[in-house]
Amino acid sequence: MSVYKRSHMCGELRESHIGQEVVLNGWIQKRRNLGGLIFCDLRDKTGITQIVFDDQVPKELFEKADTLRSEYVVGIRGRVAERESKNPDLPTGDIEVFVSDLIIYSTADTPPIYIKDDDNVDDNLRLKYRYLDLRKKKMQDNLTFRHNLAKLTRDYFSENGFTEVETPVLIKSTPEGARDYLVPSRVNRGRFYALPQSPQMFKQLLMVGGTDRYMQIVKCFRDEDLRADRQPEFTQIDLEMSFVDIDDVIEIQEGYLKRVFKEMKGVDIETPFPRITYDEAMTRYGSDKPDTRVGFELQDITELVKDCGFKVFTDAIEAGGSVRGICITGAADTYTRKKIDKLTELVKSYGARGMVWMKVTADGVSSSVNKFFSPEQLQEIADRMGAGAGDLILIISDRNKVVFDSLGFLRRHIADEMGLLDDEQYELLWVVDFPLFEYDEESGQYHAMHHPFTSPKEEDAELLKSDPMKARANAYDIVLNGVELGGGSIRIHDREMQEDMFRALSMSQEEIDEKFGFLVEAFKYGTPPHGGLAYGMDRLVMLLTGEKSIREVIAFPKNQNAQCMVSEAPGVVEEEQLEELGIRIEEEAE
Ligand code: AMO
Repeated sequence: MSVYKRSHMCGELRESHIGQEVVLNGWIQKRRNLGGLIFCDLRDKTGITQIVFDDQVPKELFEKADTLRSEYVVGIRGRVAERESKNPDLPTGDIEVFVSDLIIYSTADTPPIYIKDDDNVDDNLRLKYRYLDLRKKKMQDNLTFRHNLAKLTRDYFSENGFTEVETPVLIKSTPEGARDYLVPSRVNRGRFYALPQSPQMFKQLLMVGGTDRYMQIVKCFRDEDLRADRQPEFTQIDLEMSFVDIDDVIEIQEGYLKRVFKEMKGVDIETPFPRITYDEAMTRYGSDKPDTRVGFELQDITELVKDCGFKVFTDAIEAGGSVRGICITGAADTYTRKKIDKLTELVKSYGARGMVWMKVTADGVSSSVNKFFSPEQLQEIADRMGAGAGDLILIISDRNKVVFDSLGFLRRHIADEMGLLDDEQYELLWVVDFPLFEYDEESGQYHAMHHPFTSPKEEDAELLKSDPMKARANAYDIVLNGVELGGGSIRIHDREMQEDMFRALSMSQEEIDEKFGFLVEAFKYGTPPHGGLAYGMDRLVMLLTGEKSIREVIAFPKNQNAQCMVSEAPGVVEEEQLEELGIRIEEEAE
């Protein structure tokens, strides 16, 4: 069967093509037989053209056209004509093509999902039939957008002296805080590779190796709980630079993002971006990735209520916690008791045991704690929160982490519910001065907040030995509309300091040698000061395309259970394969 050499794509034809003979290839979106006329919508990734078979065509062709069904793949030859009833919703809506030749390349069963943008179809069905889902214009546009961003990224960094270098995928574990995906080795029985959570150590070795400036668009793998902005395999735009301080790294990145917004969105963003410290981000927004498109900043009322006698507040304060709240302007009426109960339910997942609400009216303050406070006390709290008539106040008292996490969630959640978050408004900022270490409640251990190759701030270097938990890091995150787009740091390039760091993390010499020996060894032979950053590319594309999940910008993403619904990975393997690897699967106990 021959293939018609197409003259145009289906989304291209306009009034200026009227009278021309054209050849199109594509999928039949739909067919209507009006007796003497058959209309079809012919679709490819660029759009749709209406094609027509009229009573002028040979009977055979008309009958063939009548067999066409949705998703048949065809080629047509025909003449472009002005359309009688124009369709202003379609870019090609002024024209139609009168067909003189038709070739059916393949027929199609009725597809299990309808090929239409924003069709409300179950996510798992979309993922199982991803190749059908991908036929939607929006999905193709997202893939093209992603391609264009990748191209721009390579161009920009190339122009700025970066070299793209591929790093290995079968490696030893890199500590980025998630679980590793492991790959058993057949040749080295009983040993395992880890898939990189990031190329962190290799990019540092490239700096030791004299590469000067490295970039890579690279797959990373992390076995962690999935969310809308997390996938087990995702893509980083990974960068590292020699002989730099924080300002150098930030300047290059701001130049990059400025170009991204200009070329990909036609938006001018102002540089430099604001920088706020981690402490400020937490106290003002309850989050280290604050969404600054809305206010509703946290207010600390600990001092004000410390002697109020209300046990929920005073117990939290005595246990070292705090009492803080947010004031939602004009939300008192919108948020009924039922809606507030729902919010209280939601903050439970952040560890909050309860939430106090207050509504300010012209006649005073009503609240969930009326019987514990005098009207004057309530008014005083409302005044401190800057609340006026019609405003809603939500207060959490608990350990600081719970208070911050809950209120940080609430301000964004409520802003979203109230429709205050504009997808076309881009608020970029740097969060700096992170703590070097954080306490992990689950394991009861301290972890490097970024990763253990991050250097302390120069003025805190001594603290690494004396009081490591007080040290702040030379680390920075880039945040866009409440999403952590990327993160990085200036690294430790001194062997001794690197070992101090590992010791502060309670690692034994043996452990250091086993896990990171090769990096520490490399530092012996002349290491340039260096630093870098990695963006989550999927997240960047998600935000720029206005999508709510990174799945929408990944061709074949995993589902909630980390499964590929198309290929049904992970799958079972042959017993022989396991034997070769020296692996035995134990049946799970009943
Ligand atoms: P970090 O761990 O902060 O830093 O990762 C960098 C960025 O990668 C994105 N990201 C993810 N995106 C989708 N799914 C995931 N599971 C996922 N995990 C992370 C985020 C994040 O900001 N080696 C360091 C970088 C450096 O120090 O240079 C690193 O990987 O957008």
